[in-house]
Amino acid sequence: MTAVGAAAAELVLPGMRLGIGSGRTVGALLAALAPRVRQGLQFDAACASRETAQIARQAGIRVLPEEEVGALDLAIDGADVVTPQLDCLKGLGGALARERLVALGARRFVLIAEESKLRQDLSGLPVPIEVLPFAHVDTARRVRSLGLEPRLRQDAQGLPYRTDNGNFILDCTPQGLRTPHALQEALERLAGVVATGYFLGMAQEALLAGPDGIRRIAIQQTK
Ligand code: A5P
Repeated sequence: MTAVGAAAAELVLPGMRLGIGSGRTVGALLAALAPRVRQGLQFDAACASRETAQIARQAGIRVLPEEEVGALDLAIDGADVVTPQLDCLKGLGGALARERLVALGARRFVLIAEESKLRQDLSGLPVPIEVLPFAHVDTARRVRSLGLEPRLRQDAQGLPYRTDNGNFILDCTPQGLRTPHALQEALERLAGVVATGYFLGMAQEALLAGPDGIRRIAIQQTK
């Protein structure tokens, strides 16, 4: 994780508008950026979670206000599962909606992860879905009718887990034969769904940490 954080930190240039995701791998990126910031590196950061924003501020990074992400030169974020085509699953940390907004604002979106997260395909893997608390039971019923078995995520106290946006998360296990692309299309149309953890066709590049060092996968894509 340290190595991939350091490799990603090399992509950050002075004066950039940078999107920063969330999670432990992003924590390694921030740890690698901190000494460079102390030595004078300056850039502006749109952060995908309050926790990331707090760590970034502590490191002396200029954090952009939450109201607007705007155009970003680069966004860097972790992932829970990545395919060789750079489709990925996100949201174990619950920051998926903000992570999507940050990634969408960026000209270049780079994933950073351990190589062990690489899978040929996302089919059948659980996907988190952020939903509005209002009528979430109805939303869960509609999600189930699409062939996903939803489970309301709970916090350590056994209460519904709340995202930074005050919303709930349904951790959903696909039961049917619909592909992640088909599920994503159907979920986007469901009222009550704020965002899903399917990040399909969004990343141009991944840095994957393995036993032999950092492996870079890049794909050509127009955004
Ligand atoms: C947060 O909601 C997630 O999308 C994270 O980006 C993802 O879970 C990767 O986190 P780790 O780097 O902690 O594995």
